[in-house]
Amino acid sequence: MSRRTRLIAALDTASLSTARHWADSLKNDVDAIKLGLEFTYACGLDAVKTVSAGHELFLDLKLHDIPHTVASGLSALAPLRPALTTIHASGDSEMIARSREALESAFPVGTKRPKLLAVTVLTSMNAEGLLDIGVNATPQEQVLRLGKLAISAGADGLVCSAHEIAPLRDALGDEPILVVPGIRPAGSASDDQKRIMTPAQAARAGADWIVVGRPITKASDPVLTARAIMEELASA
Ligand code: C5P
Repeated sequence: MSRRTRLIAALDTASLSTARHWADSLKNDVDAIKLGLEFTYACGLDAVKTVSAGHELFLDLKLHDIPHTVASGLSALAPLRPALTTIHASGDSEMIARSREALESAFPVGTKRPKLLAVTVLTSMNAEGLLDIGVNATPQEQVLRLGKLAISAGADGLVCSAHEIAPLRDALGDEPILVVPGIRPAGSASDDQKRIMTPAQAARAGADWIVVGRPITKASDPVLTARAIMEELASA
């Protein structure tokens, strides 16, 4: 299946003016912006609304709690109308199913419901990190286990590293939306990310969206960097 891999810029900052500046300047050069824990906790939900105006929003709050609390949290976030939003797959199938129900009731048929993404294994984790938390599996095995569970429980898609796209597509087909952080253009610093690929590699592997933060926001020219990534995706 041919797909266009789209670019999400992760605007990770605690400053409203910085986020607003990035969002305004990147308006024509990314497909969506991501606002996550840092920005949302520091600046609040009204600021999420302001900064995301005119952008597709990936609201990445990675909810993980008992099913009722996660479902209620998602209902409370509905007014922000994100295109994509996240919970942790390790919260189990009931938490995922209740999350999907909550989004369906907040967005009646005919309105654009946010897509529910389940985070599998964070791209900052490797096999040693999994062992530390008592999981004796490779990241790929654990991503597959959680990915299958999340999609069968009602998630629309998954957050995974580019290394797991091929096995997930083999196991789950083309339909699940795969959102892929841990992306580093050739030559840029890996920071704390451990399972990384370039934008073109992730596109060729079959990502629907890539999430790129620091390589854009810390660049001397974020707009030119975002443009270069969009071009790399287009020619992949
Ligand atoms: O700066 P960098 O490109 O590493 O940012 C990646 C973004 O993707 C961050 O906002 C991070 O929260 C997010 N993310 C991730 N790994 C996941 C899920 C989300 O890095 N598994």
